[in-house]
Amino acid sequence: MIRPRRLRATDAVRRLVRETRVHPAQLVLPVFVAEGLSAPRAITSMPGVYQQTLQTLPEVIEAAASAGLGGVMLFGVPIAKDAIGSGATDPQGILTRSVQVAVKAAAGRLVVMADLCLDEFTDHGHCGVVRDGEVDNDATLVRYQDMAVVLARAGVDMVGLSGMMDGQVGAVRQALDAEGFLNTAILGYTAKYATALYGPFREAVDNSLKGNRRTYQQDVGNSRESMRELRLDLAEGADIVMVKPAFLDIVAAVAQASDVPVAVYQVSGEYAMLEAAAAQGWIDREQTLMESITGCVRAGADIVVTYWALEAAEMLR
Ligand code: PBG
Repeated sequence: MIRPRRLRATDAVRRLVRETRVHPAQLVLPVFVAEGLSAPRAITSMPGVYQQTLQTLPEVIEAAASAGLGGVMLFGVPIAKDAIGSGATDPQGILTRSVQVAVKAAAGRLVVMADLCLDEFTDHGHCGVVRDGEVDNDATLVRYQDMAVVLARAGVDMVGLSGMMDGQVGAVRQALDAEGFLNTAILGYTAKYATALYGPFREAVDNSLKGNRRTYQQDVGNSRESMRELRLDLAEGADIVMVKPAFLDIVAAVAQASDVPVAVYQVSGEYAMLEAAAAQGWIDREQTLMESITGCVRAGADIVVTYWALEAAEMLR
């Protein structure tokens, strides 16, 4: 008889034949930095995750660097919001200042990424400029270009384009190149779906969205569309392509077709669901979170953006 169980029999042999090994260097920690807070503020729907302050940010960066993480992804939470998201392009804005602080604290030990999108900064909560009740794609691209240059001047290593506007990668690449920021990399949110799983994130960044993002984020039922987005992002010059949320069939398909590194964003709702079940004692928290990260890597992701990055890195030691 052929006995596959032979290779499952002991911890030693399981370890020897394991195909997928997660390494801290491939994990990226999202970090929220809020303006006007005197101390970190807990995010109710994401137990264990906080809005940090500019003062506490260096400690977080230090922890991320000592844990050997590959990077951090910064999100700014401003006090004031307006129709065009002016705060996003303010050289003194919360995201810009967070980048400066993080880059200094990181001192080259990890990659500092910043979200490049307007939704944290707009009073209507959309990822772009709204005209006649609709998100105006091309007017938004101009804002993204300005934002990219402001973030690059602040020293960001990589910008994460999460707005799902057409042409965003090409527009931002052009603006960065024109200003001489040839080495500022672009992580494209290539396949980003309109899902309820971003719910807790919207609390995390105090998002003011009333409607939904269905005119720009992808339909959950589609996968072909992700391949089209992949082709476009690659042609426009994305350095890394990302799938969000962790829809693993899409990760696997993108990983097969991409010739640049593939990231996956394990989003706030995925975090919240697992934490909620674990808090009830219904699942083993540590084991489940490691399994979910391993699943992302097994599907083909080179990089996993996850709120468990620090803890997972500790567990992997
Ligand atoms: C948009 C953005 C979102 C997330 C990351 N960037 C929210 C959205 O598209 O509504 C969600 C991340 C998460 O849920 O963890 N700037």
